[in-house]
Amino acid sequence: MFIGRRITKPLADRGRPLNNGAKQGSTMSETDTETAIVVKDLTISYGDFLIQKDLNFTVKRGEIFIIMGGSGCGKTTVMRCLTGLKEPARGQVFLDGVSFWEAEEDERERMARRLGIVYQQGALWSSMTLAENVALPLGEYTDLGPKDIRDLATLKLALVGLAGFEDYYPSEISGGMRKRVGIARALALDPELLFFDEPSAGLDPITSSRLDDLIAELRDNLGTTMVMVTHELPSIFAIGDDSVFLDPDTKTMIAEGDPKRLLEECRDPRVHAFLTRGGKETFGQTTSK
Ligand SMILES: Nc1ncnc2c1ncn2[C@@H]1O[C@H](COP(=O)(O)OP(=O)(O)OP(=O)(O)O)[C@@H](O)[C@H]1O
Ligand SMILES: [Mg+2]
Repeated sequence: MFIGRRITKPLADRGRPLNNGAKQGSTMSETDTETAIVVKDLTISYGDFLIQKDLNFTVKRGEIFIIMGGSGCGKTTVMRCLTGLKEPARGQVFLDGVSFWEAEEDERERMARRLGIVYQQGALWSSMTLAENVALPLGEYTDLGPKDIRDLATLKLALVGLAGFEDYYPSEISGGMRKRVGIARALALDPELLFFDEPSAGLDPITSSRLDDLIAELRDNLGTTMVMVTHELPSIFAIGDDSVFLDPDTKTMIAEGDPKRLLEECRDPRVHAFLTRGGKETFGQTTSK
């Protein structure tokens, strides 16, 4: 698929380095140009209920980074913390060297606008066409006129393989297509970072695999850094460059690294069991056990 250059009209603040609002004390590792996100000593809770503690990991620019772990271990909550939707109890999240949760509110809003989020359920407006759904952030955050917005929404839909579907309603397309619309909308403002929460949830294996291909293709062509919350092993091994594994019992990360290397080298039985579906599979191939 041809993927065009980014042509969205720049936002008013675009081009301004994010670390304008950086607090004193950022270290080299937080301002490294190869580094998109640094998570430092992060602890997250709902009131007294601890979700995850002492998280430390780095997402490199242009990689597909996986946040994995069993159901309920706190993946979505960690993602909410990285995208500005939930304040951590302790620790910091540096985006391009700026401490997100220490920045002033207007700076934080500017930072959040550089992120795209693809929600688990798609979160599309059923009364709006696909083009209108994708156009929403363009209308809200740019000064573009209706024709430019329509053209851009059409382009974003084409990027995800939905050229010609602009005037369809969400109820008229398949679940896989709805996921793609969610991606097109998240791409509307040309985000530097794209977050996905369980993008394959509810999809058949073939559709899910095609979605993985699309995500990798967008990363390759647009250079967008991708952070993906998932427990789908085929996706993890197919497109994950790096990862962190969250454990629900100890409520912290117990492994990190390239998932394929973790599969081969990680000796922690909890990680090994997860990556092999309890010892039954390796890279999607059932063993004879
Ligand atoms: N708004 C909330 N208030 C209180 N507790 C919450 C809230 N949201 C989530 N939780 C709790 O936080 C824990 C982690 O939830 P979270 O949704 O982050 O897990 P997850 O790993 O994404 O799960 P899944 O794999 O099922 O999507 C759960 O015990 C959940 O009940
Ligand atoms: Mg979740």
